[in-house]
Amino acid sequence: MAYSEKVMDHFMNPRNVGEIENANAVGQVGNAKCGDIMKMYMDIEDGVIKDVKFKTFGCGAAIATSSMATEMVKGKTVEEALKLTNKAVMEALDGLPPEKIHCSVLAEEAIHSALEDYNSRQSEENRIKLG
Ligand code: FES
Repeated sequence: MAYSEKVMDHFMNPRNVGEIENANAVGQVGNAKCGDIMKMYMDIEDGVIKDVKFKTFGCGAAIATSSMATEMVKGKTVEEALKLTNKAVMEALDGLPPEKIHCSVLAEEAIHSALEDYNSRQSEENRIKLG
C-alpha cells in the first residue's frame, strides 16, 4: 500500500518540529520494535495546550503522524488531548499501511507522556485524571 497524499505532505513538510524552551510538559517515548524515539514539548496555560512541538529520530510514518497529532492537539484542553487516539490521527491522514500502524502509536504515547509530565508538576488538587 502506498502512502496517502496527506502522509506525504506531513512527512515532507512536518508541522511543529522543534523544541519549546521552558515547556511545562515534556515527554519522551521509544518504540521497542524499531528503536525510534520521539520527544514532545508543550506549553500549557490554564489547562489549554498553547503550543506543541516535537522532535523524532523516527521513520516517515512517525514524522507524519506526529506532525498531524500536534496539529490536532494544539489549542485543545488537556482533557481533549488525552482522548486523541492514534486511530483518529491515522484517519486524519487518510490511513497508513498496516505495517506502519505501530509508528502512529508513538505519537499518541508521546502526547500522553508529555501530559503525564505536566500532571506531575501540578499540585494534588489540580491534577487531571489520566485514564
Ligand atoms: Fe519506527 Fe516507524 S519504523 S516509528
